[in-house]
This record gives sequence, structure tokens and C-alpha cells, in this order.
Amino acid sequence: MKTLKFPKGFYWGTGTSAYQVEGGIRNDWSEAGGKYDAGVACDHYNRYEEDFDLAKKMNNNAHRFSISWARIEPQEGQFNQKEIEHYRKVILALRERGLEPFVTLYHWPLPVWFVKKGHWLNKDAPKYFERFVEKIVGEYKDLVKFWITLNEPNAYVSHCFTIGHWPPFVRSWFKAQKVLKQLAEAHKKTYNIIHKISVGSKVGIAKQNNYFQGILKTVVDYFWNRRFLQAIKNHQDFIGLNYYHAFSSYGKKLKASKKHVSDLGWGIYPRGIYYVLKDLKKYNKPIYITENGLADAKDKLRSKFIIDYLKWIHKAIEEGIDVRGYFHWSLMDNYEWARKGGYYPRFGLIEIDYKTLKRTPRSSSKVYAEICKNNAIKL
Ligand code: FCB
Repeated sequence: MKTLKFPKGFYWGTGTSAYQVEGGIRNDWSEAGGKYDAGVACDHYNRYEEDFDLAKKMNNNAHRFSISWARIEPQEGQFNQKEIEHYRKVILALRERGLEPFVTLYHWPLPVWFVKKGHWLNKDAPKYFERFVEKIVGEYKDLVKFWITLNEPNAYVSHCFTIGHWPPFVRSWFKAQKVLKQLAEAHKKTYNIIHKISVGSKVGIAKQNNYFQGILKTVVDYFWNRRFLQAIKNHQDFIGLNYYHAFSSYGKKLKASKKHVSDLGWGIYPRGIYYVLKDLKKYNKPIYITENGLADAKDKLRSKFIIDYLKWIHKAIEEGIDVRGYFHWSLMDNYEWARKGGYYPRFGLIEIDYKTLKRTPRSSSKVYAEICKNNAIKL
């Protein structure tokens, strides 16, 4: 048996985001109704302690989650003290269990007032975001070290402003470019604000980078993988990598096996993460894998998926890539946006029964728990 050890102090965790798990949030998505309304989701808002107990049982030492801007600032400029206290309790609950909080400040849905004012297309949009961030960081500065300002700017903009199938349902290449610019601006400004308020904190974004082969590597790679990181390169302490997809030169999904694909048809191509990590070396920053996972309701592929991806991550580390953590997506099944009606894809290490909200750890969670405990994979 071969043991592949990970670096000392490596962070092992899972990720979630507010709208996908909490339930009861009023924002632009819930307002759109139907499949955009997450409803009670996993009721994580009330059950976070139980959920963090399960994360601790998996021997995790970190957790990534997001704070809902719509909860904190439901009316423009008015902060909800009760919700501020709620997230303080959430962060403390993590700390009590030895889970280092990685806090995402923007994971897509938005306060209704912000959207009414023109969404990210309003010239003052970055300023509104800065006001929220300033408040939050001021509140939790002694409790949080790792801040993720934005989740997947490119994916967000492509779903919401190019394809236009998610709120605010805009289909315009020009507007999409404008939003990307605004997001980069919002990140840079909040990077400075966070450092001013919370000395010693670490700030980055969670960036979805894909592996592209051949001809795609030159053009698409620039637009999807590099452009945004390039724009903020002097304003990040680490890179958060969300990794899911790999494409051949013809734009076809790469799959290590034709038979084994996720329930959403996403290909499983573990070596892709290795190439993507190698490409990130040029930025010369520590890297945290902030998302990686698959929809697999029957949990047939998840254990092998985790081991195979970690094998390639380990190889990258051995070759000098400074990877410092891995957050599997996701802790539990959750509201997967508007994909196949939202609740069909099951990304969780823990299964949710949406009728009873009962949590049941899947067998892959035991495999992950073993890896986290040993800080190593055994092959
Ligand atoms: C990512 C999102 C995350 C989740 C996974 C499956 O693009 O950041 O919220 O939906 O996909």
C-alpha cells in the first residue's frame, strides 16, 4: 500500500453557500419564484450546529460557507442586527469544533433593493458591496482570517448575463463584460478594505477554472481562466480554485471513463485538476481548492472521485504547487440553483431527505473522514 501524505497544516473541509442550504432567504432568486425559489432548502439556518457536528465527525478542520447579503442588509443601508448575531454564532460554532472558517462574501443571490437599483450594472454597485463588506469584516474581524470576496465571477456572469437563464435573465455580451469589470473593481476595493480593518487576514476569490485542450487552450483559456485573475493579480493573497470541468479541443467534455459520469452528465477527469493547478503557478500564490465534487445520488462514484482527484492534487504539490487545502463540494445535498429544478442534483457527502430534513452521512463521507484524519490518501 502506498501512502500519499499532504503537507502539515493542510485544511480539509467542505463547502456550502447561504442560499443553497439555509432556507428562508428573501432575495432576487426567491422573488423570481418557481424553480428559482430555494424555499426551506436544508434548513441549515436552524440546524447549523448539527451540520457542523457532522463536519467535525468527518475530521474536517475547516469549513467554507457564505454570508447572505440579503439577510444582513435587507433594506438599503439598514443592517439587521439579529442576522449579524446569527452569523456570529455560526462562526463561533465552527471555531468551537476546530473548523477554520473560510467566509464567502458574495455567492450569487442579491438583496432585492440592489437589483432594483440596476444590479451590478449600476455604476455605484461596487460601492454598495463595499459598504456591506466593511460592516461584516468589522463585525467578525477577530473571528475570521480567510475571506473569499467573490464566488466564480465568470460562471455567474455567463449564467446570469450571457446565457440568461438565471436571474436577472439578461442576454447581452456587452452587459456581461460590464458586470465582470464591476466585479473585479468590487473585489479590488474590498481587498483593501478587508486588509485595513482586519490586519493579517487573507483575501482571495473562488475562481472556477476549467481544463482546456488544444486550440481551446489559447483563446477560451484566456477568457475563462486567466482574464479575471490577471485583472486582480495584485489584489489577492491566495487563489481559491473551484474545479469541475475539462474539455477537449473540440469542446467536448473529457471523461476518464465513458460509463462513469455524474448524474448531471459532467465528465470525471481527475488529471485535469493537475494541469489547472500547474497553470496557476505563474501567480505565485498559495492555492486552496475551494470546490470540487459531483452530483451522485447513489454515492457510487464519490469515494473514488475524491481519491482520484486528491492523487492528482498530491502530484501537483510534489511538483512544487503550493496547495494548502481542499474543500469538497458539498457538505450536504442542497439547492443546486435552477439545474433540473434545483433539488435533483445531489452533491452531498451527507444525504438530505427533503421531506423530513433528516441528515444521513453517505458512505463516501467515511472515506473522506479517513483521509482527513490521516492527512493522507492510501492507495
Ligand atoms: C459551482 C457553484 C456552487 C455549486 C457547484 C456545483 O459552480 O459555485 O455553488 O453549485 O457549482
